[in-house]
Amino acid sequence: MTFDRFGRHINYLRISLTDKCNLRCVYCMPEDMTFRPRAELLQDDEINRLVTIFAELGFHKFRLTGGEPTVRANVVDIVGRIARTPGVETVAMTTNGLLLKDLAQPLAAAGLKRVNVSIDTLDPTKFKKLTRWGHVEDVWAGIEAAERAALGIKLNAVVVRNYNDKEDVVEMARLTLHHNWQVRYIEMMPFGDVADFQQAGVVTEKELRQTIEESLGPLTLVNDGELDGEARLYHLAQAQGALGFISSVTQPFCASCTRVRLTADGRLRLCLLREKEVNLLDPMRNGASDEQLKEIIRDGIWWKPWGHRLEQQVIPLNRVMSEIGG
Ligand code: 5AD
Ligand code: SF4
Repeated sequence: MTFDRFGRHINYLRISLTDKCNLRCVYCMPEDMTFRPRAELLQDDEINRLVTIFAELGFHKFRLTGGEPTVRANVVDIVGRIARTPGVETVAMTTNGLLLKDLAQPLAAAGLKRVNVSIDTLDPTKFKKLTRWGHVEDVWAGIEAAERAALGIKLNAVVVRNYNDKEDVVEMARLTLHHNWQVRYIEMMPFGDVADFQQAGVVTEKELRQTIEESLGPLTLVNDGELDGEARLYHLAQAQGALGFISSVTQPFCASCTRVRLTADGRLRLCLLREKEVNLLDPMRNGASDEQLKEIIRDGIWWKPWGHRLEQQVIPLNRVMSEIGG
């Protein structure tokens, strides 16, 4: 078991498989984004070795992220190897869904349990505007394929003022009336070069709940507000699914944080919104033993930070979101 100095039990690893993406969401990266050369990224065997080490340290929950994880070569094999690692209980993925139409079935067969699909609006024109390159029909085809493959499904929407903060939010909520899905709204977080845009466009949970209630009636809090992962859940009367709010900016959930992140270039990112990272790639390539790597990981996690400092205008600048994986 691995603990930090605040007594938090850390057992959830999010692995970014690549910083690349087949979209260019306005809140995530600039259109002319440059990516890291392949040699700087963790290779398949290196991922596998680290997963084994983390599992031995008591990690049992793993999530693959990006960029867009499905654009990584061999993603199905990577999932299969992680799912077969002793100690690993669940492997999930956060994806934009574009490639799930063909990949949902093989990924499920390889051992993937759940997908969180990012879909910020159901409106094709606005979807294009938000993602710069995307067609929302492709995401739908991906979600349908995920259902056929019996993957658990959650939908994630990042809400951006004047893009998708009104009727789009309501239409997404309406989906939960007839589908047993969790539709989750994410407060936009500021990173690096895109921070000004992100801070200007953030829409708070409070405002979103009001918008939804005005159109669809009262929301009832689920489980006395106990967080489901990072989301606070509500449901609409007669709904089959639930609405989740991930309010990292206005109501941070640091006390219940159990996670750390592995970036595609092999750094252990200790908190999404803080710059502190521990380099695992170089020691691994310089011949560190499993025991030595475990020691580096344990020591890094011990110093996991508490809380973002956005209210003091301290914004993480060393990476944008697509390099950390959300
Ligand atoms: N703030 C909050 N969420 C973001 N995502 C990407 N950029 C941001 C941001 N600045 C979301 C994606 C996806 C998940 C990986 O993170 O939409 O759902
Ligand atoms: Fe790609 Fe996700 Fe970033 Fe959009 S938010 S550009 S889908 S990594």
